[in-house]
Amino acid sequence: MKGIVFSEFLDLVEEKFGLELVDELIESTELPSGGSYTAVGTYPHSEMVSMVVRLSELTKVPVSDLLNVFGRHLFQTFHKNYPGFFAEVKHPFDLLEQIDNHIHVEVKKLYPDAELPRFEAERSDAEMTLIYRSERKMSDLALGLIEAAAEHYETDLKVEKELLKADGSAVKFKLS
Ligand code: HEM
Repeated sequence: MKGIVFSEFLDLVEEKFGLELVDELIESTELPSGGSYTAVGTYPHSEMVSMVVRLSELTKVPVSDLLNVFGRHLFQTFHKNYPGFFAEVKHPFDLLEQIDNHIHVEVKKLYPDAELPRFEAERSDAEMTLIYRSERKMSDLALGLIEAAAEHYETDLKVEKELLKADGSAVKFKLS
């Protein structure tokens, strides 16, 4: 997982819970990399899982809620750092439709070692189905990104989530 994801995560923890909690989190989580991340580096995905689980223990906030908030935060970061992907877009469906065949394709060119999910999109004017597939099982992060996209384009979206695989590696989102 790219270092930018880790540094954004720790920035968010600091913003929401304070610097002391960031220190406590890093000290009390088993992190082979030692807990220092550079934006261009790549680190084991397992370290992100360990930190989110530990943060949930420390704050009593459920893991799914933490990932959702983190997804919303990442949306703002992506929007700020990569404005080009958002420039021509007027509706969240247009953005979501492009993740798999454009946005993440470009991400992969920039960072060949990025580990990205797959999204299958099907849409009409009023509805969209988005199937998320990833061995990293971060559909709650995806949900936060989707909800942030809806808010960004001031669209009232209802999002229903259905597990296609019990382990969370395939999830269907129905947006209407
Ligand atoms: C709302 C639209 C988007 C959704 C739903 C989405 C979804 C996701 C998810 C769920 C992950 C976590 C990895 C996984 O689950 O396997 C991810 C990773 C990532 N995405 Fe997206 N994404 C979106 C837009 C973007 C945009 C606009 C960018 C900016 C260029 C971007 C860049 C990345 C990067 C850099 C990673 C990390 C890859 C790694 O750590 O190796 N995504 N995305």
